[in-house]
Amino acid sequence: MAIEFSQRIRRIPIYPAAGGYAQQEPLVRLASNESPFPPLPEVRQAIERAIGTLNRYPDPSSSLLRRRLSERYEVPTSRIAIGNGSCDILLAAGEALLEPGAELVYAWPSFSIYPHLAAASGARALTVALDADARHDLDGMLREITVATRLVLVCNPNNPTGTALPLADLSAFLAEVPRHACVILDEAYCEFNVLEDPDASLDLLEAHPNLMLLRTFSKVYGLCGLRVGFGLCGSEELARALDQVRQPFYCNALAQAAATEALAHQDAVLERVARTIAERISVDERLRAMGLAPADSQANFCWVELGAERDTPKGTREQQVMRGLEERGVLVRAGTALGSEVPALRVTYGLPEENRRFLDALAEALEPAPAP
Ligand SMILES: Cc1ncc(COP(=O)(O)O)c(C=O)c1O
Repeated sequence: MAIEFSQRIRRIPIYPAAGGYAQQEPLVRLASNESPFPPLPEVRQAIERAIGTLNRYPDPSSSLLRRRLSERYEVPTSRIAIGNGSCDILLAAGEALLEPGAELVYAWPSFSIYPHLAAASGARALTVALDADARHDLDGMLREITVATRLVLVCNPNNPTGTALPLADLSAFLAEVPRHACVILDEAYCEFNVLEDPDASLDLLEAHPNLMLLRTFSKVYGLCGLRVGFGLCGSEELARALDQVRQPFYCNALAQAAATEALAHQDAVLERVARTIAERISVDERLRAMGLAPADSQANFCWVELGAERDTPKGTREQQVMRGLEERGVLVRAGTALGSEVPALRVTYGLPEENRRFLDALAEALEPAPAP
């Protein structure tokens, strides 16, 4: 007899992990929006110092990291949620806010963990298609908000399209969202946005107790292997509810030490952002020269639709291009696996040499197959 799992387990989608790591070496890994830059030497030293404390449980409230975040963002420590990656905070928000009968609103395609929140809780998910520029349709989202809405997710810049919304539009949107609905503004990539000061959204917190700005050490700080994220909340009760649903010690000692140290090196962060943006400009230029039309990315990855070309006997256009890239040792994400209805690729901007390998491989993979 097979094990009988809960309804919940049957509903929860499996997170689409980037596969194929066992292929040809050396691989160019551009599938997970990671930082191409290794941790700073000072961060490594902080991790090494913390290793000696691993016989003890970590500080359960991450007090030093919390204090440093509070100083950096001018948000009281009691309104900061820390998590085992920002995914942990998203899942905790799902647990604290959602249940059968409740509703959750988000744009689609957007971050692939969002559907998990509805599935895990039994709440109803209402998704709103991105507009023609691959941006959130905020008016459309407002129309889906009802008395049953408990959570609204806005991903800015959006994963997988990289597109960003003006702060003024977000501010007008928030003014219309009723206070009973919590809004999470997922800003995992906000530091790469050149259209807006990444800290400008902090002002929104004062007017909106139902708002949380969700940020992470995984992207711009290059610490995704350690798992640290944080939420800056408009109210203490929101931060407290997130703690209530989680296991104690959710942020490990090495992660706390590394994140605290990383925060002290904002100059290095800015320098790395500048290098990524320079790559963004040059990769997008080459994509356009190939006849492609990358979306206006304000993140560390691009989104390229592959056009409505006919399927070939070897599969869809997207599968063919993905295979071509993989054969050349380049890993990216297939757009349809991320919710796109048209063939597309999501590609992280890497180091110059990695980007060159991607672009060369793409040029070859896009060439029409020779006639049989
Ligand atoms: C939009 C968005 N939010 C949150 C996350 C989660 O990041 P982490 O759990 O590593 O902090 C990601 C990761 O890719 C993301 O793309």
